[in-house]
Amino acid sequence: MRDLLAALDALEAEAAAALAAADESGLEALRVRFLGRRGALTAILRGLGELPPEARPVVGQQANAVKAAIEGLLQARRAALRTAAVAGLASDRLDASLPGRPPRLGGLHPLTATLRDILEIFASLGFVVAEGPEVELDYYNFEALNIPKDHPARDMQDTFYITDDVVLRTHTSPVQVRVMEAEPPPIRVVVPGRVYRRDADVTHSPMFHQVEGLLVDEGVTFADLKGTLSAFVRLCFGEGTRLRFRPSFFPFTEPSAEVDISCVICRGAGCRVCKQGGWLEILGAGMVDPEVFRFVGYDSERYTGFAFGMGVERIAMLRYGVDDIRLFFENDLRFLEQFHAL
Ligand code: PHE
Repeated sequence: MRDLLAALDALEAEAAAALAAADESGLEALRVRFLGRRGALTAILRGLGELPPEARPVVGQQANAVKAAIEGLLQARRAALRTAAVAGLASDRLDASLPGRPPRLGGLHPLTATLRDILEIFASLGFVVAEGPEVELDYYNFEALNIPKDHPARDMQDTFYITDDVVLRTHTSPVQVRVMEAEPPPIRVVVPGRVYRRDADVTHSPMFHQVEGLLVDEGVTFADLKGTLSAFVRLCFGEGTRLRFRPSFFPFTEPSAEVDISCVICRGAGCRVCKQGGWLEILGAGMVDPEVFRFVGYDSERYTGFAFGMGVERIAMLRYGVDDIRLFFENDLRFLEQFHAL
Protein backbone atom coordinates (compact mmCIF):
# COMPACT_ATOMS: atom_id res chain seq x y z
CA MET A 1 0.00 0.00 0.00
CA ARG A 2 2.84 2.31 0.88
CA ASP A 3 4.35 1.68 -2.51
CA LEU A 4 1.14 2.61 -4.24
CA LEU A 5 0.73 5.83 -2.28
CA ALA A 6 4.33 6.79 -3.09
CA ALA A 7 3.75 5.99 -6.76
CA LEU A 8 0.68 8.25 -6.76
CA ASP A 9 2.68 11.13 -5.26
CA ALA A 10 5.44 10.59 -7.82
CA LEU A 11 2.86 10.54 -10.59
CA GLU A 12 1.40 13.86 -9.50
CA ALA A 13 4.85 15.44 -9.29
CA GLU A 14 5.79 14.11 -12.71
CA ALA A 15 2.54 15.39 -14.24
CA ALA A 16 3.02 18.82 -12.64
CA ALA A 17 6.56 19.13 -14.08
CA ALA A 18 5.53 17.94 -17.56
CA LEU A 19 2.54 20.30 -17.69
CA ALA A 20 4.55 23.30 -16.57
CA ALA A 21 6.86 22.81 -19.55
CA ALA A 22 4.17 21.94 -22.10
CA ASP A 23 2.90 24.18 -24.88
CA GLU A 24 -0.64 24.04 -26.22
CA SER A 25 0.05 21.32 -28.77
CA GLY A 26 1.57 19.07 -26.09
CA LEU A 27 -1.32 19.23 -23.60
CA GLU A 28 -3.50 16.53 -25.16
CA ALA A 29 -0.67 13.98 -25.19
CA LEU A 30 -0.05 14.63 -21.50
CA ARG A 31 -3.75 14.23 -20.72
CA VAL A 32 -3.75 10.83 -22.42
CA ARG A 33 -0.52 9.84 -20.71
CA PHE A 34 -1.63 10.69 -17.16
CA LEU A 35 -5.42 10.40 -17.22
CA GLY A 36 -6.17 8.20 -20.25
CA ARG A 37 -7.58 4.69 -20.14
CA ARG A 38 -4.15 3.17 -20.47
CA GLY A 39 -2.52 5.63 -18.14
CA ALA A 40 -0.81 4.84 -14.83
CA LEU A 41 -3.61 6.31 -12.74
CA THR A 42 -6.31 4.25 -14.43
CA ALA A 43 -4.21 1.13 -13.87
CA ILE A 44 -4.00 1.84 -10.15
CA LEU A 45 -7.75 2.46 -9.89
CA ARG A 46 -8.50 -0.72 -11.80
CA GLY A 47 -6.27 -2.71 -9.48
CA LEU A 48 -8.04 -1.53 -6.32
CA GLY A 49 -10.08 -4.77 -6.18
CA GLU A 50 -6.96 -6.79 -5.66
CA LEU A 51 -5.88 -4.86 -2.61
CA PRO A 52 -6.68 -5.93 0.92
CA PRO A 53 -10.11 -4.48 1.82
CA GLU A 54 -8.75 -2.04 4.44
CA ALA A 55 -6.29 -0.54 1.92
CA ARG A 56 -8.87 0.07 -0.80
CA PRO A 57 -10.49 3.29 0.51
CA VAL A 58 -7.13 4.84 1.40
CA VAL A 59 -5.54 4.20 -1.97
CA GLY A 60 -8.81 4.92 -3.82
CA GLN A 61 -9.23 8.29 -2.16
CA GLN A 62 -5.62 9.22 -2.77
CA ALA A 63 -5.85 8.14 -6.44
CA ASN A 64 -8.97 10.23 -6.96
CA ALA A 65 -7.30 13.20 -5.30
CA VAL A 66 -4.28 12.86 -7.61
CA LYS A 67 -6.57 12.52 -10.60
CA ALA A 68 -8.43 15.70 -9.63
CA ALA A 69 -5.15 17.50 -9.01
CA ILE A 70 -3.78 16.57 -12.44
CA GLU A 71 -7.05 17.59 -14.11
CA GLY A 72 -6.83 20.92 -12.28
CA LEU A 73 -3.22 21.43 -13.39
CA LEU A 74 -4.13 20.57 -16.95
CA GLN A 75 -6.92 23.11 -17.03
CA ALA A 76 -4.87 25.79 -15.35
CA ARG A 77 -2.03 25.25 -17.88
CA ARG A 78 -4.45 25.39 -20.79
CA ALA A 79 -5.94 28.66 -19.51
CA ALA A 80 -2.50 30.18 -18.88
CA LEU A 81 -1.35 29.35 -22.42
CA ARG A 82 -4.51 30.94 -23.88
CA THR A 83 -4.04 34.11 -21.89
CA ALA A 84 -0.41 34.40 -22.99
CA ALA A 85 -1.39 33.86 -26.63
CA VAL A 86 -4.06 36.55 -26.49
CA ALA A 87 -1.67 38.97 -24.78
CA GLY A 88 0.85 38.34 -27.57
CA LEU A 89 -1.76 39.14 -30.20
CA ALA A 90 -2.67 42.34 -28.40
CA SER A 91 0.89 43.62 -28.27
CA ASP A 92 1.56 42.78 -31.95
CA ARG A 93 -1.66 44.44 -32.95
CA LEU A 94 -1.71 46.74 -35.98
CA ASP A 95 -3.24 50.10 -35.18
CA ALA A 96 -4.85 51.00 -38.48
CA SER A 97 -5.72 54.45 -37.18
CA LEU A 98 -2.06 55.56 -36.88
CA PRO A 99 -0.99 58.01 -39.61
CA GLY A 100 1.14 56.31 -42.28
CA ARG A 101 4.67 57.24 -43.27
CA PRO A 102 4.26 59.34 -46.42
CA PRO A 103 6.49 58.25 -49.34
CA ARG A 104 9.05 60.93 -50.26
CA LEU A 105 7.93 62.72 -53.40
CA GLY A 106 10.34 63.53 -56.17
CA GLY A 107 10.11 66.59 -58.37
CA LEU A 108 11.42 67.84 -61.66
CA HIS A 109 15.10 68.72 -61.80
CA PRO A 110 15.38 72.51 -62.33
CA LEU A 111 17.12 71.90 -65.67
CA THR A 112 14.32 69.59 -66.81
CA ALA A 113 11.71 72.15 -65.78
CA THR A 114 13.58 74.94 -67.58
CA LEU A 115 14.10 72.87 -70.72
CA ARG A 116 10.43 71.88 -70.82
CA ASP A 117 9.36 75.51 -70.44
CA ILE A 118 11.70 76.62 -73.26
CA LEU A 119 10.43 73.90 -75.60
CA GLU A 120 6.82 74.65 -74.72
CA ILE A 121 7.28 78.31 -75.60
CA PHE A 122 8.78 77.45 -78.98
CA ALA A 123 6.07 74.84 -79.57
CA SER A 124 3.55 77.64 -79.10
CA LEU A 125 5.41 79.55 -81.84
CA GLY A 126 5.16 76.57 -84.20
CA PHE A 127 8.59 74.97 -83.76
CA VAL A 128 8.91 71.17 -83.65
CA VAL A 129 11.62 69.26 -81.76
CA ALA A 130 14.54 67.64 -83.63
CA GLU A 131 17.47 65.76 -82.11
CA GLY A 132 20.91 64.56 -83.12
CA PRO A 133 23.85 62.50 -81.79
CA GLU A 134 26.11 63.66 -78.96
CA VAL A 135 29.06 61.76 -80.42
CA GLU A 136 29.32 63.65 -83.67
CA LEU A 137 31.40 63.72 -86.83
CA ASP A 138 33.83 66.59 -87.11
CA TYR A 139 32.10 67.25 -90.42
CA TYR A 140 28.78 68.18 -88.79
CA ASN A 141 30.19 69.83 -85.68
CA PHE A 142 32.64 72.01 -87.65
CA GLU A 143 33.19 71.54 -91.40
CA ALA A 144 29.63 71.93 -92.66
CA LEU A 145 29.15 74.86 -90.28
CA ASN A 146 31.87 76.69 -92.14
CA ILE A 147 34.58 75.97 -89.58
CA PRO A 148 37.42 74.29 -91.54
CA LYS A 149 40.14 72.26 -89.84
CA ASP A 150 42.65 75.04 -89.29
CA HIS A 151 40.10 77.80 -88.74
CA PRO A 152 40.84 79.95 -85.68
CA ALA A 153 37.15 79.76 -84.72
CA ARG A 154 37.80 76.20 -83.52
CA ASP A 155 39.60 77.76 -80.61
CA MET A 156 36.32 79.34 -79.49
CA GLN A 157 35.30 75.91 -78.23
CA ASP A 158 37.63 73.52 -76.44
CA THR A 159 36.74 70.22 -77.99
CA PHE A 160 36.80 66.65 -76.66
CA TYR A 161 38.12 64.58 -79.57
CA ILE A 162 37.27 60.87 -79.83
CA THR A 163 39.34 60.42 -83.00
CA ASP A 164 40.57 62.91 -85.59
CA ASP A 165 37.14 62.85 -87.24
CA VAL A 166 34.83 62.20 -84.27
CA VAL A 167 34.11 64.59 -81.40
CA LEU A 168 31.73 65.07 -78.53
CA ARG A 169 29.59 67.80 -80.04
CA THR A 170 30.53 71.22 -78.71
CA HIS A 171 27.14 72.73 -79.55
CA THR A 172 23.74 71.71 -80.94
CA SER A 173 24.39 73.51 -84.25
CA PRO A 174 25.45 70.29 -86.06
CA VAL A 175 21.80 69.24 -85.89
CA GLN A 176 20.98 72.25 -88.10
CA VAL A 177 23.00 70.57 -90.84
CA ARG A 178 21.50 67.13 -90.23
CA VAL A 179 17.94 68.50 -90.35
CA MET A 180 18.56 70.44 -93.58
CA GLU A 181 20.25 67.43 -95.19
CA ALA A 182 17.21 65.32 -94.35
CA GLU A 183 14.43 67.59 -95.62
CA PRO A 184 13.81 70.61 -97.84
CA PRO A 185 12.51 74.00 -96.59
CA PRO A 186 10.40 75.18 -94.92
CA ILE A 187 12.16 74.24 -91.66
CA ARG A 188 11.12 75.29 -88.18
CA VAL A 189 12.86 73.24 -85.46
CA VAL A 190 14.21 73.52 -81.94
CA VAL A 191 16.96 71.13 -80.88
CA PRO A 192 17.48 70.36 -77.19
CA GLY A 193 20.47 68.35 -76.08
CA ARG A 194 23.71 67.84 -74.21
CA VAL A 195 26.92 69.42 -75.43
CA TYR A 196 30.51 69.06 -74.23
CA ARG A 197 33.45 71.42 -73.81
CA ARG A 198 36.74 71.22 -71.94
CA ASP A 199 35.81 73.88 -69.46
CA ALA A 200 34.97 73.83 -65.75
CA ASP A 201 34.37 76.62 -63.23
CA VAL A 202 31.38 78.17 -61.44
CA THR A 203 29.69 79.10 -64.72
CA HIS A 204 31.06 76.35 -67.00
CA SER A 205 30.50 72.61 -66.87
CA PRO A 206 32.20 70.10 -69.23
CA MET A 207 28.70 68.84 -70.06
CA PHE A 208 25.81 71.27 -70.36
CA HIS A 209 22.60 71.69 -72.34
CA GLN A 210 21.69 73.86 -75.28
CA VAL A 211 18.57 74.58 -77.24
CA GLU A 212 19.19 75.37 -80.87
CA GLY A 213 16.63 77.00 -83.12
CA LEU A 214 16.50 76.98 -86.92
CA LEU A 215 13.96 78.50 -89.25
CA VAL A 216 14.39 78.47 -93.04
CA ASP A 217 11.90 79.59 -95.65
CA GLU A 218 11.50 82.08 -98.47
CA GLY A 219 11.72 85.69 -97.38
CA VAL A 220 12.90 85.17 -93.79
CA THR A 221 14.61 88.31 -92.44
CA PHE A 222 16.51 89.50 -89.39
CA ALA A 223 13.24 91.11 -88.25
CA ASP A 224 11.73 87.61 -87.99
CA LEU A 225 14.66 86.58 -85.80
CA LYS A 226 14.18 89.61 -83.56
CA GLY A 227 10.43 89.06 -83.35
CA THR A 228 10.81 85.37 -82.50
CA LEU A 229 13.46 85.95 -79.83
CA SER A 230 11.54 88.89 -78.33
CA ALA A 231 8.46 86.72 -77.98
CA PHE A 232 10.54 83.95 -76.42
CA VAL A 233 12.29 86.24 -73.92
CA ARG A 234 9.03 87.83 -72.75
CA LEU A 235 7.33 84.44 -72.32
CA CYS A 236 10.35 83.02 -70.51
CA PHE A 237 11.41 85.93 -68.28
CA GLY A 238 8.30 88.13 -68.12
CA GLU A 239 6.64 90.92 -70.11
CA GLY A 240 8.86 93.70 -68.82
CA THR A 241 12.10 92.11 -70.00
CA ARG A 242 14.03 94.14 -72.61
CA LEU A 243 16.33 92.75 -75.33
CA ARG A 244 19.51 94.03 -76.85
CA PHE A 245 21.21 92.67 -79.98
CA ARG A 246 24.98 93.14 -80.10
CA PRO A 247 26.99 92.47 -83.27
CA SER A 248 29.02 89.30 -82.96
CA PHE A 249 30.62 86.59 -85.05
CA PHE A 250 29.83 82.95 -85.72
CA PRO A 251 31.23 81.19 -88.82
CA PHE A 252 27.79 79.71 -89.62
CA THR A 253 25.69 82.90 -89.37
CA GLU A 254 26.00 86.23 -91.16
CA PRO A 255 25.25 88.69 -89.78
CA SER A 256 25.62 87.36 -86.24
CA ALA A 257 24.47 88.73 -82.94
CA GLU A 258 24.64 88.08 -79.25
CA VAL A 259 21.42 88.74 -77.43
CA ASP A 260 21.27 90.30 -73.98
CA ILE A 261 18.25 90.70 -71.74
CA SER A 262 17.77 93.34 -69.07
CA CYS A 263 19.01 91.87 -65.79
CA VAL A 264 16.29 89.71 -64.25
CA ILE A 265 17.64 90.39 -60.75
CA CYS A 266 17.96 94.21 -60.69
CA ARG A 267 15.81 94.98 -63.77
CA GLY A 268 18.69 96.88 -65.31
CA ALA A 269 19.78 99.04 -62.38
CA GLY A 270 23.07 97.20 -61.94
CA CYS A 271 23.90 94.41 -59.51
CA ARG A 272 26.40 91.64 -58.79
CA VAL A 273 24.77 89.18 -61.22
CA CYS A 274 24.97 91.55 -64.23
CA LYS A 275 28.32 92.90 -63.00
CA GLN A 276 26.71 96.35 -62.68
CA GLY A 277 26.05 96.47 -66.43
CA GLY A 278 22.29 95.92 -66.24
CA TRP A 279 22.40 93.38 -69.10
CA LEU A 280 22.80 89.61 -69.26
CA GLU A 281 23.94 87.69 -72.33
CA ILE A 282 21.64 84.73 -72.96
CA LEU A 283 22.14 83.51 -76.53
CA GLY A 284 23.93 83.61 -79.86
CA ALA A 285 22.04 84.04 -83.11
CA GLY A 286 22.18 85.17 -86.71
CA MET A 287 21.05 84.67 -90.28
CA VAL A 288 22.13 81.29 -91.67
CA ASP A 289 25.35 81.81 -93.65
CA PRO A 290 24.84 81.00 -97.38
CA GLU A 291 27.95 78.85 -97.10
CA VAL A 292 26.04 76.48 -94.77
CA PHE A 293 23.19 76.30 -97.31
CA ARG A 294 25.79 75.33 -99.92
CA PHE A 295 26.91 72.37 -97.74
CA VAL A 296 23.34 71.04 -97.45
CA GLY A 297 22.34 71.80 -101.05
CA TYR A 298 19.79 74.56 -100.32
CA ASP A 299 19.41 77.34 -102.88
CA SER A 300 20.64 80.43 -101.03
CA GLU A 301 19.17 82.72 -103.72
CA ARG A 302 15.72 81.43 -102.89
CA TYR A 303 15.88 80.68 -99.17
CA THR A 304 17.02 82.56 -96.13
CA GLY A 305 16.86 81.57 -92.50
CA PHE A 306 17.84 82.35 -88.96
CA ALA A 307 19.40 80.27 -86.22
CA PHE A 308 20.00 80.73 -82.53
CA GLY A 309 21.49 78.78 -79.67
CA MET A 310 21.10 79.18 -75.92
CA GLY A 311 22.47 77.50 -72.80
CA VAL A 312 19.81 75.88 -70.63
CA GLU A 313 21.94 76.02 -67.44
CA ARG A 314 22.51 79.74 -67.89
CA ILE A 315 18.79 80.39 -68.25
CA ALA A 316 17.99 78.20 -65.24
CA MET A 317 20.63 80.02 -63.16
CA LEU A 318 19.04 83.36 -64.04
CA ARG A 319 15.49 82.19 -63.39
CA TYR A 320 16.19 80.63 -60.01
CA GLY A 321 19.08 82.78 -58.83
CA VAL A 322 21.58 79.88 -58.78
CA ASP A 323 25.16 81.18 -58.73
CA ASP A 324 27.14 77.94 -59.23
CA ILE A 325 26.47 75.71 -62.26
CA ARG A 326 27.91 72.66 -60.49
CA LEU A 327 24.92 72.57 -58.12
CA PHE A 328 22.83 71.23 -61.00
CA PHE A 329 24.97 68.12 -61.30
CA GLU A 330 25.79 67.21 -57.70
CA ASN A 331 22.36 65.72 -56.97
CA ASP A 332 22.37 67.07 -53.44
CA LEU A 333 18.79 66.61 -52.22
CA ARG A 334 19.00 69.75 -50.09
CA PHE A 335 19.48 71.72 -53.32
CA LEU A 336 17.01 69.76 -55.44
CA GLU A 337 14.23 69.77 -52.82
CA GLN A 338 13.90 73.53 -53.22
CA PHE A 339 12.51 72.98 -56.72
CA HIS A 340 9.85 70.38 -55.85
CA ALA A 341 7.01 72.73 -56.65
CA LEU A 342 8.14 73.09 -60.28
N1 PHE B 1 26.41 77.31 -81.59
C1 PHE B 1 26.68 78.59 -80.98
C2 PHE B 1 27.39 78.36 -79.65
O1 PHE B 1 27.33 77.30 -79.14
C3 PHE B 1 25.41 79.37 -80.74
C4 PHE B 1 24.71 79.75 -82.02
C5 PHE B 1 23.75 78.94 -82.54
C6 PHE B 1 25.02 80.95 -82.65
C7 PHE B 1 23.09 79.29 -83.70
C8 PHE B 1 24.38 81.30 -83.80
C9 PHE B 1 23.42 80.50 -84.33
O2 PHE B 1 28.02 79.26 -79.11
